[in-house]
Amino acid sequence: MKKFERHLITSALPYANGPIHIGHLAGVYVPSDIYTRYLRQKGEDVISICGSDEHGVPITLKARQEGVSPQEIVDRYHALNKKSFERLGIAFDMYARTSSPVHYETASQFFRTLYDKGEFIEKTTEQYYDEEAGQFLADRYITGTCPHCGHDHAYGDQCERCGTSLSPTDLISPRSAISGSKPVLKETRHWYLPLDQHEPFLRKWILEDHKEWKSNVYGQCKSWLDQGLQPRAVSRDLDWGVPVPVEGAQGKVLYVWFDAPIGYISATRELTPEWEKYWKDPATRMVHFIGKDNIVFHCIIFPVMLRAEGSYILPDNVPANEFLNLEGDKISTSRNWAVWLHEYLEEFPGKEDVLRYVLCANAPETKDNDFTWKDFQSRNNNELVAVLGNFVHRALILTHKYFEGKVPERKELTGFDREVLKEMGLIRQRVEKSLDQFRFREALNEAMGMARLGNKYLADTEPWKVFKTDPERVQTILNISLQITAGLSILLAPFIPFTMKRLQDFLNLEKSSWDLAGSDHLLPAGHPVKTPALLFEKIEDAVIEKQVSKLVATRQANDGGKASAVPPVRETISYEDFMKMDIRTATVVEAVRVPKTKKLLKLTLDTGVDRRTVVSGIAGIFDPARLVGRKVCVLANLAPRRIKGIESKGMILMAEDTESHLYMISPPDDTPNGSEVK
Ligand code: 2FM
Ligand code: ZN
Repeated sequence: MKKFERHLITSALPYANGPIHIGHLAGVYVPSDIYTRYLRQKGEDVISICGSDEHGVPITLKARQEGVSPQEIVDRYHALNKKSFERLGIAFDMYARTSSPVHYETASQFFRTLYDKGEFIEKTTEQYYDEEAGQFLADRYITGTCPHCGHDHAYGDQCERCGTSLSPTDLISPRSAISGSKPVLKETRHWYLPLDQHEPFLRKWILEDHKEWKSNVYGQCKSWLDQGLQPRAVSRDLDWGVPVPVEGAQGKVLYVWFDAPIGYISATRELTPEWEKYWKDPATRMVHFIGKDNIVFHCIIFPVMLRAEGSYILPDNVPANEFLNLEGDKISTSRNWAVWLHEYLEEFPGKEDVLRYVLCANAPETKDNDFTWKDFQSRNNNELVAVLGNFVHRALILTHKYFEGKVPERKELTGFDREVLKEMGLIRQRVEKSLDQFRFREALNEAMGMARLGNKYLADTEPWKVFKTDPERVQTILNISLQITAGLSILLAPFIPFTMKRLQDFLNLEKSSWDLAGSDHLLPAGHPVKTPALLFEKIEDAVIEKQVSKLVATRQANDGGKASAVPPVRETISYEDFMKMDIRTATVVEAVRVPKTKKLLKLTLDTGVDRRTVVSGIAGIFDPARLVGRKVCVLANLAPRRIKGIESKGMILMAEDTESHLYMISPPDDTPNGSEVK
């Protein structure tokens, strides 16, 4: 790796429209904090930047729902989230906000520079407009049916079911999220960043120069690039955001995804007058910690912005994580299906590190993962209490019992002693290697290997038995055990900083720089150690049951609310309108996954009239092999569409419940193909 002089660590700015939950933490903030703490312990020059993303439709929609101003919403959640991060020990150097004057100035200036350099194209297009609300409907202000998978609640910028990124005009049957009314098309003028013009650069920079990026990140970038990039609008017709700083742009603001990443720059400006050193000197290594839904913005759009501006460095790595689920279900703010950080901090005082530990041990690094309260309990009881806490406690208590709390002198070493001491150094190297590759789970497991090593060492050497006959041998055993304890307090500090600080206090350890972690002489003979308290305590079943009951209640409340959550019947249509739809029964004769997609299946149908291809976003629910032979209903006269280069002729009919679960509409097996459904 190139030698960098300093590090700029950024963590995705969370929207200030709700509290932080465990999904945010496991995906972004726990790993970024571990990495930052690790670099600081190594004595590197590092700053960690974050803050609230206070613009964008999620904020204004929430304000509208509550009947308060957007400012009130962002003030509330900015304060809550900043405090919660601090309490969990997420040690940002700056937690800024995108409503700050510095940010407005930085973002306006950035836009203006690109504008003056001619880096934008201006286009007038027709966009959806809500005549009742008197407002253009950007992004999440508009919902409708996804043209790719038929999901009925796709947003104007993305379908959350199949993950496809959309434009409002892609939606079938669009509806305003403000009034529910059918929008009309109206002309409007906007500024676009011509991403397509930067494609050759991106292909080289990512696909050739950054082959070391995580495969999920690299793969997503490649797929975007292979599909071909389009100019991307960077302004919106909204009244909440940074005003577009050019003549004649009244009523227009910067697109939230244009201004939010500039928030990293403005936060650095707020932190230090030397901010340019972190942003403009190629000797700075910038790393963006994000969730997988932010990959395109951090790997494609923001780098294009930075490069177009001309004076900034680009990220060296973007270690995006996948998503964390909760007890088998997708975490959802609107369904209150989450473990909220501020609630955890209230209900588990003093157990900040337990959450940090569990979220790292179970982080969704290469695939989506599940958080369960049972796993939380068992990792606490079986790993933190039984392995780490137990070893440390025994080493310190025995030192007090036999040697008045002073590190005993090391005498003659056995082969086993030498092996253990050597292994300590190797463990530090392995932890370091994993951390350098952003493999935090692996790093934590390796570091815990030092505690397992310590336990095994004590169990095999049995100082409590040996003391009567050979107290000198016990001097050596406890000296080595205490060196392991001190090493642990350094190695595990990035992961569980509160507890390791306590441990270092028990050990009166003054020097805790990273490079000392594998040393076998951290504590000199005669060095006094304190009588320890327990580092961790067991979590009883009742505590876990209480949390599980809370979730059960949420689930019941969500299910109970189902009747009212069923969408209202749409506007009346005529019989003739209905009869325009030609729905036929058909048999699936072939089903294969569409390469490089997660959700799409390419189905060949025998419709009784013809054999045709239909692309359907149901790979997540149906195994292709089990679909073959199944009877389906197909909307046969839907205009053909090209999806991932495949011409799809028709749509398979599915029922969808309020939780977005899909059910196949299957006619009885003896229905002849081609029968009309009416
Ligand atoms: O996805 C999100 O929560 C965004 N608010 C992340 C923004 S990251 C950055 F660009 F600011
Ligand atoms: Zn979709």
